[in-house]
Amino acid sequence: GAAVEVEIGALQPGEKLTVEWRGKPVWIVRRTPEQLAALPKLDVQLADPNSDRKAYPTPEYAKNAARSIKPEYLVVVGICSHLGCSPSDKFQAGPQPSLPDDWNGGFLCPCHGSTFDLAGRVFKNKPAPDNLEVPPHMYLSETKLLIG
Ligand code: FES
Repeated sequence: GAAVEVEIGALQPGEKLTVEWRGKPVWIVRRTPEQLAALPKLDVQLADPNSDRKAYPTPEYAKNAARSIKPEYLVVVGICSHLGCSPSDKFQAGPQPSLPDDWNGGFLCPCHGSTFDLAGRVFKNKPAPDNLEVPPHMYLSETKLLIG
């Protein structure tokens, strides 16, 4: 499939943009400093904290604490790795009784309750086996992304 160019200059902190790539939704989230600070520690409760699993190989440039090239911008495919539902935004969720202790919001799958942090990492003990997929991408300029 063709690569997609995306202009992200108008995206404000805390906002999400959805574009289509190869028939899939790709989310670009501009994370606030608070959202970045709230990402869980990599050694707790996450099924694959360092994105080492091979089912959805994570590009080397996204194998880091923010899972992105530029910490501010998350780029992920918005499809749950369990059975393919599209998770909902829960950017302000905060800890909740039925959810993982360290979940400070991110994405919640409405189908079977998988929770992902704001870097698309899935929490343990939830049906989704893998983190959200990071598609191949690069920056063409400060405000222009190429996906694919
Ligand atoms: Fe997302 Fe089942 S499809 S938890």
